[in-house]
Amino acid sequence: MKKITIAIDGFSACGKSTTAKEVARELNYRYIDSGAMYRAVTLYFLEHHIALTNPREVSTALDAIHINFVVNSKGFSETFLNGVNVEKEIRKMRISEQVSAVSTIKAVREAMVSQQRKLGKDKGIVMDGRDIGTVVFPGAELKVFLTADMQVRAYRRQLELLNRGDLVDIEDIIENLTQRDRIDSTRVESPLKKAEDAITIDTTNITADEQVDKVIRLAISRMISR
Ligand code: CDP
Repeated sequence: MKKITIAIDGFSACGKSTTAKEVARELNYRYIDSGAMYRAVTLYFLEHHIALTNPREVSTALDAIHINFVVNSKGFSETFLNGVNVEKEIRKMRISEQVSAVSTIKAVREAMVSQQRKLGKDKGIVMDGRDIGTVVFPGAELKVFLTADMQVRAYRRQLELLNRGDLVDIEDIIENLTQRDRIDSTRVESPLKKAEDAITIDTTNITADEQVDKVIRLAISRMISR
């Protein structure tokens, strides 16, 4: 079967990464978490006190940023920023609170999209994010758009953070998700929106296994019909 490109987009905490990771594992495809790239840029900007409104500072910082992914001994992909494993750090609330603002910057998007396209040039990839089906890979053979109710999304994110050792108030999570939804969907540069040819899956009442199953079935049908 020919390799295809699978784009999984949607709002925060709808199960994109969980689905994308497992689909990639089952198909033996590469998984790329594009959100992790924006989070790594945000971490760098915070640590280096980059003024988001200063194009020269932003551009110099982007030139100094190298992001790559390494699969750990448990088979999970971890994010490295300039050679340092930042997987834990980029998931923290201090990054979640700034990442959407950083992601509105045109130069940031151009730099990330160009790297994402390089990573996906040979197909056989599952990438999740906000603009994968619309901007990064508009020709992707399979585009999935995930949605879920806010309350469910917030609980899932709270559990995820707890599993990483961070106890965060549910109200703070809801506020962060709501704010990011708003910034991500209304920004000028590649806003979050469903691609016309994407298939919507509402994950509110289905299990992670069911989500994965649906996407795998769709992927196989696309591989066969090519
Ligand atoms: O995991 P979660 O759903 O919270 O978000 P993420 O996928 O880690 O993405 C974090 C943030 O990065 C999003 O809220 C967007 O602001 C930005 N992002 C983006 O602009 N474009 C992408 N392709 C992926 C993420």
